[in-house]
Amino acid sequence: MQRAVAKVGKDKKIRNFYPGLFADELQSAPEAAGITQVCSAEGQLLGVGYYDPRSRVAVRVYRFEDGPLDKKFFLRRFARAQEKRQGLGEFYRLVHAEADGLPGLVVDRFGVVLVVQVRNRAMEALREIWLPALIETLRPGGIYERSDMDARRQEGLPERLGVIDGEVPATLEVVEDGLVFAIPLALAQKTGFYLDQRENRRLLENLTRPGDRVLDVYSYVGGFALRAARKGAYALAIDKDLDALGVLDQTAARQKLRVDIRQGEALGVLEGLVGKTQPFQQVLLDPPALVKKPDELPRIKRHLVDLLGQALRLLAKDGWLWLSSCSYYIGVDELLEVTRRAAADEGRRLRVHAITYNPADHPWSLHVPESLYLKTVIFQDDAL
Ligand SMILES: C[S@@+](CC[C@H](N)C(=O)[O-])C[C@H]1O[C@@H](n2cnc3c(N)ncnc32)[C@H](O)[C@@H]1O
Repeated sequence: MQRAVAKVGKDKKIRNFYPGLFADELQSAPEAAGITQVCSAEGQLLGVGYYDPRSRVAVRVYRFEDGPLDKKFFLRRFARAQEKRQGLGEFYRLVHAEADGLPGLVVDRFGVVLVVQVRNRAMEALREIWLPALIETLRPGGIYERSDMDARRQEGLPERLGVIDGEVPATLEVVEDGLVFAIPLALAQKTGFYLDQRENRRLLENLTRPGDRVLDVYSYVGGFALRAARKGAYALAIDKDLDALGVLDQTAARQKLRVDIRQGEALGVLEGLVGKTQPFQQVLLDPPALVKKPDELPRIKRHLVDLLGQALRLLAKDGWLWLSSCSYYIGVDELLEVTRRAAADEGRRLRVHAITYNPADHPWSLHVPESLYLKTVIFQDDAL
């Protein structure tokens, strides 16, 4: 097998289970893209991965000992991923890339349908090996590929969208705690459904009382709003995606629930609501990944302060404010800072009720800082 040699000091990354090395972290690189052993400058074998000089991360490491990257290897990885998700039902993230020892691969399970995303050149090159192993482990009715994310473009890979195995209905049926969402795959965001907010949605349902008013900002298909409506609350959902709101509307109608909807840009819609509506006991802000590069941080923080300012104007006394970030660069400290700034502007006193992170089926590996991506701070208005 060909070999890539880590520079002195950079071997520590691999020894500490970080699954990648940049080109400038290599003392010597193989001649061509392919499966490669990774060694320290002293010649000690550190692991086995895939080398591709065109990838942002030149070596992706898949195992931290010697051995082939063959079907048997991937069968074991998928079986392990499955084992860790026992008891989660039929709708969960089965593979969360690096955090499941499979850099570049995401697999979400929606009943008998799997939705996969292939995010890097290594996983793309190894497709003929891992795909049969995935099929053998899960025996799905069908697999849909949704490889159209930015990461893939940065790797210089073309989009891949469509059915890659078996049969996949045009509409994905997602069931979460009794709520049934019918999401047309052609219109869906991400892999179709934000499975990562499931536990926060449960928390909201527990905190909501009949008669509350709940404002679900960045609602997508209304996972939060519908749960609130189910508890007897008045719910208003805001999103710019008309298709997602259409799914929300149909879901509500089918389950005989009522959710009001506003389509538009979140900040503008909130500004329009201030002074024209009763306060809300729950305000949820779950924006998309707003910061993709560190230099965007100051501008986005300012935007969040503005957004939070409007949210606080709409928040009832003793009400709950939920703020999520799925951007790696906006961590808990930034969420607390922007909320403190907005609260100061609005003269509101808040307490931190809870902080939650991506759930167990989206594992957070200690060794891969990027695998902590979803943070939610739940504040409560705490006037003296
Ligand atoms: C992280 S998702 C929300 C997931 C949702 N809370 C759930 O539980 O399924 C972010 C949502 O924000 C919406 N969005 C993005 N930019 C927006 C904007 N400027 N104004 C309103 N909605 C926006 C997207 O359409 C997407 O549905």
